Amino acid sequence: MSTMSKEENHQLSDLPEFLQDNDIVQEFKDLVLSLPREKGWLASYLHQYQGFWHTTRQIQGVLSCQKYFKSLDNDVILVSTPKSGTTWLKAIIFSLVNRSTFPDTKHNHPLITTNPHVLVPFLELNLYLTSKSKLVIPDLSSIRKATLDSASLFSTHLPYVSLPDSVKTSPCKLVYLCRNPKDVFVSLWHFTNRLKPESWAKNTMEESFEKFCNGVSLSGPFWDHSLGYWKVSLASPEKVLFLNYDEMKKEPFFHVKKLAEFLGFPFSLQEEANGDVSRILELCSFDNLSNLLVNKNGKQPSGEENKTFFRRGEVGDWMNYLTPEMAKKLDSLVEQKLHGSGLKF
Ligand code: A3P
Repeated sequence: MSTMSKEENHQLSDLPEFLQDNDIVQEFKDLVLSLPREKGWLASYLHQYQGFWHTTRQIQGVLSCQKYFKSLDNDVILVSTPKSGTTWLKAIIFSLVNRSTFPDTKHNHPLITTNPHVLVPFLELNLYLTSKSKLVIPDLSSIRKATLDSASLFSTHLPYVSLPDSVKTSPCKLVYLCRNPKDVFVSLWHFTNRLKPESWAKNTMEESFEKFCNGVSLSGPFWDHSLGYWKVSLASPEKVLFLNYDEMKKEPFFHVKKLAEFLGFPFSLQEEANGDVSRILELCSFDNLSNLLVNKNGKQPSGEENKTFFRRGEVGDWMNYLTPEMAKKLDSLVEQKLHGSGLKF
């Protein structure tokens, strides 16, 4: 059920599969077409649903996942705003909860041959998909069977308001990751331009910045996304652990131990003394992961090159891109939006 012209379809075919989003399945068509819509950064459109912006493909994943995903008690869901370091945290959580199965982080570890996004799939982007104008309802039993003794790991960019009810009401745990918005913006700008086919015009920094400040970005507005989880983490700290990329970079050891405790997989004194925390951090470090063959040359099942998830992996790279005026504008906007919440960047 195409909603676009032939010319646009022709261009869309240059994109990786996950961005060829011109079809809307019958089940969600009326709803999706009734939503406010803006031009996307990469995919043709962003649609506003429950206050947040999603691509045409993603919005269908959001709706499908809301309708069909039933969380179980030992599910762990990693939630993030896009470009907050999701890839890093996926690798850390995977190696942490599976460390008794895969104690050797130098040889034979799944992360050496598999990209973190494959090991910890996104609900709305990887599992609850549309294919050839049909909804795909995934069979999660194989994921759950393989992780009976540990935790079943999923991830999402869904805002809190859009989480499936069962996620909110079951004892499953949520780990939220955010990052300072100036680095998120710069990372997102690079990411969307890297995914663009050579022949397409790149997004300018100015036009993208304007959109980001208006909240029109992937799973944006950024501040509302973070605020939603921040509030729940304060009210229910046993349910949501709120992490910040910048703080994790500063004190990785402390945060990984905190994460392990929160998930119910604390490191014993013996493990700490053996260097197990450091080994996991080394395995998941930017330098190590980004230099693995699978992440240099491999692709996601949906067609994205794995290397697009690794760029610089540093705090403060925004200084190389934003003018002082842009930085000031975004800082005061975010400060105003978060005022009184206790959340600061
Ligand atoms: P930069 O573009 O600033 O380099 P996400 O994983 O949410 O898509 O976020 C991508 C950002 O995380 C990119 O930031 C990327 O370089 C960084 N990143 C990826 N792997 C990392 C790792 N192992 N450690 C630290 N940062 C990492």
